[in-house]
Amino acid sequence: MDRITINGKTFRLSIPHEEILKQVERVAEEINRDIAGQDPVFLCVLNGSFMFASDLMKCVKIPCELSFVKLSSYSGTSSSGQARQLIGLTDDLRGRVVVVVEDIIDSGLTLFKILDLLWEHMPKAVKVCSLLVKPDKHKAHLPVDYVGMEIPNDFIVGYGLDYDGKGRNLPSIYTME
Ligand code: IMP
Ligand code: MG
Repeated sequence: MDRITINGKTFRLSIPHEEILKQVERVAEEINRDIAGQDPVFLCVLNGSFMFASDLMKCVKIPCELSFVKLSSYSGTSSSGQARQLIGLTDDLRGRVVVVVEDIIDSGLTLFKILDLLWEHMPKAVKVCSLLVKPDKHKAHLPVDYVGMEIPNDFIVGYGLDYDGKGRNLPSIYTME
């Protein structure tokens, strides 16, 4: 399946599942080496990173915890003054090493907001692990400790990422033509 169509748009296969898994395993090895003995809490940011987190955590061999959080959407426009919240965070993060597991960093605004909200919980350290980073649009200078792959500034779907809610279940990544 080299080409797929979602809601009338054509996408071509760009990163096969096997290639993704190689990078996921490499990132897990880096994590196993770097934060062994620190009892980290991994925070999988839903929805996009569910598949990445699943494969990553199978390769993380150190004692750790795993939780799932979601950044609430803006209700109405962002200028309406509605603050965004981290939904689902029930763990006590005080004094813990936290690893944020993200699918993709584009402008960096989502990650910036997540980090901002996390620091209120007084963790000892926060590390960021993102499967994908779009370097051209990495506007904010955010610390990203673990990167699966740097990709061009194209729109992609698959491996957790969606286009209009579709395509998250695809095991490989596809780029919009
Ligand atoms: P940022 O706030 O601009 O860094 O955007 C991050 C979020 O935008 C990700 O968590 C994704 O949900 C979404 N996103 C960014 N680029 C893509 C893409 O190419 N395909 C699908 N979703 C994307
Ligand atoms: Mg995301």
